[in-house]
Amino acid sequence: MSRTISRIAITNGGGDAPGLNAVIHSVVIAARRLGWEVLGIRDSYVGLLSPHDYADHGIVKLRRGTVRGITSLGGTILGTTNRGNPFRRPEMQPDGSVREVDRSDDVVRRLAELGVDALIAVGGDGSLAIADALARKGVRVVGVPKTIDNDLEATVQTFGFDSAVSFATECLDRLRTTAASHRRLLVVEVMGRHAGWIALHSGIAGQADVVLIPEIPFDLKKVAHHLARRPRGAGRHAIVVVGEGATARGGAVTVKSHAQGQEEKLGGVGEIVARELERLTGRESRSVVLGHLLRGGSPTATDRLLGVMFGAAAVRALEQGLDGVMVSLRPPAIEHVPLADAIAKRRTVQLDGDAILVARALDICLGD
Ligand code: F6P
Repeated sequence: MSRTISRIAITNGGGDAPGLNAVIHSVVIAARRLGWEVLGIRDSYVGLLSPHDYADHGIVKLRRGTVRGITSLGGTILGTTNRGNPFRRPEMQPDGSVREVDRSDDVVRRLAELGVDALIAVGGDGSLAIADALARKGVRVVGVPKTIDNDLEATVQTFGFDSAVSFATECLDRLRTTAASHRRLLVVEVMGRHAGWIALHSGIAGQADVVLIPEIPFDLKKVAHHLARRPRGAGRHAIVVVGEGATARGGAVTVKSHAQGQEEKLGGVGEIVARELERLTGRESRSVVLGHLLRGGSPTATDRLLGVMFGAAAVRALEQGLDGVMVSLRPPAIEHVPLADAIAKRRTVQLDGDAILVARALDICLGD
């Protein structure tokens, strides 16, 4: 890839997150100002590898007009997939079996054929690992951290997280009134995989009574005891927030499905917790799974801002001749960190961090 830039491409990868369109908008406007063309790749790298599946051959020319007004839209105008790893692409073999094939050289070749001088890859840990591997093959790449889970090392916050927390908090507010009316326990399962950020932040903001996160294996007898000793005025209802990756002490994560070659799909712990708490407390319990609702809808102002700041910073990084880096929020600045640092480790809730201290100070039971 040449050092001077006249054309860049942008790709999304993994689950969608509110704020993706804000990044796309910002990249396009900032790059066009520099006179660069911007190509959008459909569905992660699928648009490059299976162009015949698309009316537009998997590539969209992104002009100012294409991105006008999209910052406020949820989802992504480019489409995304969490099955789009070009290094391990499941492909049907002549004998009918499905085998994972490394098609990364084809990605590099297609980018060169399209005259792409640099790639902006927007994604979570999986997508940024792919970006890092492409960088090692000579592709000039800048990453942008995206995930509602907020579990990426090397950035204080990913975009998408604030929207997920805000919506979960609104749901907790709504659930509290029905829980109070029926004097029930309401167990609310939220996404986040093996990190408890969404559960903890929404639980504090939404005044939950109990928050169970993957970082603190729980003991439901202790939770039941906590609920029993609450002052009478607190009523008999309670809100319990459970991160989908939370586990009982000595137990394993609850898995919904695990298809071959894919990450296991977490889910179901909320219902288990509700049934067990009903048994232990004698109180009627219900469970609600917020699931993909947390990924949908318009981004909050914070995520719009983070998205546009990350997008502009990614273009700035390329302008400054950087590559193999990820843009990162290190307040008050947006900085650049090596992609390798961003994917080295999952960022989980620190047990001595402020959010945990606040939760304990507010007498929120953390299950331990
Ligand atoms: O990583 C984001 C995330 O939303 C996780 O919190 C969740 O476990 C997963 O994606 C669900 O992915 P899918 O879209 O495959 O159901």
